[in-house]
Amino acid sequence: MLRNYYNMYKKYGFKLIYAYFFYSHFFDIKNRVDTHLWIPVDTLYDENNRYDDHNRYYLGSWSNIIKKTYSLADQFLGSNMDNYSFIDMGCGKGRVLLIWEQLIQKHKRNISLSGIDLNPTLIEIAKNNHRKMFNKEGDFSVQDVCNLSSVESMNENLIIYMFNPFGEPVIRKMLEQLTDKKVMIIYVNPLHPEPLLEYGYEEIYDQGGWHPILQIKVFTNHKIK
Ligand SMILES: C[S@@+](CC[C@H](N)C(=O)[O-])C[C@H]1O[C@@H](n2cnc3c(N)ncnc32)[C@H](O)[C@@H]1O
Repeated sequence: MLRNYYNMYKKYGFKLIYAYFFYSHFFDIKNRVDTHLWIPVDTLYDENNRYDDHNRYYLGSWSNIIKKTYSLADQFLGSNMDNYSFIDMGCGKGRVLLIWEQLIQKHKRNISLSGIDLNPTLIEIAKNNHRKMFNKEGDFSVQDVCNLSSVESMNENLIIYMFNPFGEPVIRKMLEQLTDKKVMIIYVNPLHPEPLLEYGYEEIYDQGGWHPILQIKVFTNHKIK
């Protein structure tokens, strides 16, 4: 853990250490969960089980960004948000769902939340985190977004969250399965917007930031108001 902090200091100085502590590490201390430690790709996947060259590391979204994404969904969808289901594609240890769950409870919303990840170890950790915080099971499942087994049973209206989880080929495979859904995509650290534009999505929001983790784009494939 100390090495992580040292590497951050070398790259961005104290600014990143401060932000990482308050928006990532502190969430775990406060809630007694395990979401902040990043895991490099080699420990998650072997070389034969890769679709593209994207580094499929686990790294949790920062809490300030997750809260911002909830506000954006609220701003764009208003009361219609309750007609959507929220899915974190590549949910890792589940921090996004944990914070969205807190927010929907606080705002008395009625929206279903689920998380999908290729890695069974991360899904077990996410489930455990959810039990610790809410004393009930969260909807986390091991699935490859290239071959979603739950697509038939998914709501027609979806809010999809992605924190730079995969490269272009995987994003295309995911979108191909969602062409008959009404989708809003909240894309954090949006490195690969091109496939979304190819699939007819329109960019409706763009936020920059001093670190890529702070950058957010929102896309939709349908009229939302
Ligand atoms: C950068 S982490 C994001 C974690 C979480 N969404 C968050 O924001 O806190 C990306 C995650 O995507 C997952 N992932 C990568 N490729 C995937 C695929 N084809 N299907 C499902 N999950 C995948 C990785 O296992 C990793 O946990």
